[in-house]
Amino acid sequence: MEYRPRRLRKKEGLRRMVSDIKIKAEDLILPLFLVPGEDIKEEITALPDCYHLSVDRVVEYLKEPVARGLNAVLLFGVPEENQKDAEASQSRDPEGVVPRAVKKIKDNYPELVVGTDVCLCAYTDHGHCGIMDSGGEVKNDETLEYLARMALTHTRAGADIIAPSDMMDYRIGFIRRALEEEGFTNTVIMSYSVKYASSFYGPFRYAADSAPEHGDRSSYQMDYSRSQEASIEAELDIQEGADILMVKPALAYLDIIKEIDSQSNLPLAAYSVSGEYSMIKQAAKAGICNEEEMVHEVFTAIRRAGADIIISYFAEKYLQILSDKK
Ligand code: PBG
Repeated sequence: MEYRPRRLRKKEGLRRMVSDIKIKAEDLILPLFLVPGEDIKEEITALPDCYHLSVDRVVEYLKEPVARGLNAVLLFGVPEENQKDAEASQSRDPEGVVPRAVKKIKDNYPELVVGTDVCLCAYTDHGHCGIMDSGGEVKNDETLEYLARMALTHTRAGADIIAPSDMMDYRIGFIRRALEEEGFTNTVIMSYSVKYASSFYGPFRYAADSAPEHGDRSSYQMDYSRSQEASIEAELDIQEGADILMVKPALAYLDIIKEIDSQSNLPLAAYSVSGEYSMIKQAAKAGICNEEEMVHEVFTAIRRAGADIIISYFAEKYLQILSDKK
């Protein structure tokens, strides 16, 4: 008798029984953008259905997603233009929007996992991810100290996860040591280990007002034409003490997700970035694709490639889809 693949597809119940890729609420991380000021909840034009939130609105904003099972958030600070400077001073201000939001969220939702992005680009007046020398080059080793101070500011406020996205060499080890020196032995570091210089970050740079004024990020972010580098970057982060690795973007890099998943047993996150989000949003808005179905298909592909965790602006929407299915 021959095997008939279609037998198992005949019924929804049978299909569900044999499908092995399942996405749970716990797999998702929702990014949030925090701005100074009060009573602000403004839709981000480049990221429809995502908002700039002031710290006083964040608790109310999270109420529904948390009730639906949201397990983790990743916070980004968006300071005012006049708060930016060459040294990214705001990035380590304990009264900055991120540390204040961390405290507020932890006070109200102690079970929610709170991660913070650690990078200077939203805080420097030139928009690069590190400190620059007079010739316009990012100074890798000097930047490490600034990143460590930013990470410590977030950790002191109560962050569970520190997520360095700057791509300076040796930042994971440097931040790990700085945390240990202050006795923060339990802080999780989720490293943006394999982060490509990508056009898919376009909408985010509007949302975080972090586009570089001159030049691009190709001297520190990875070149997608170089296929062998991913495993080297991941290996360095493992040696330096990362707890969770990340590949970013996700959809155009499923092969890389698969490679890193087989290289390491550490949990692996995939960041489905702003450009991936906007592509689906715009296609749905144009009426040419079904948003919910596309999100489900893309999330499934990312999990199938080997990611344990998905960071996505669709996280909230997906929780709605999950609770509607119940
Ligand atoms: C900061 C940072 C960026 C993203 C996350 N952290 C932008 C960049 O590196 O240019 C992109 C996220 C997204 O596009 O959704 N360095």
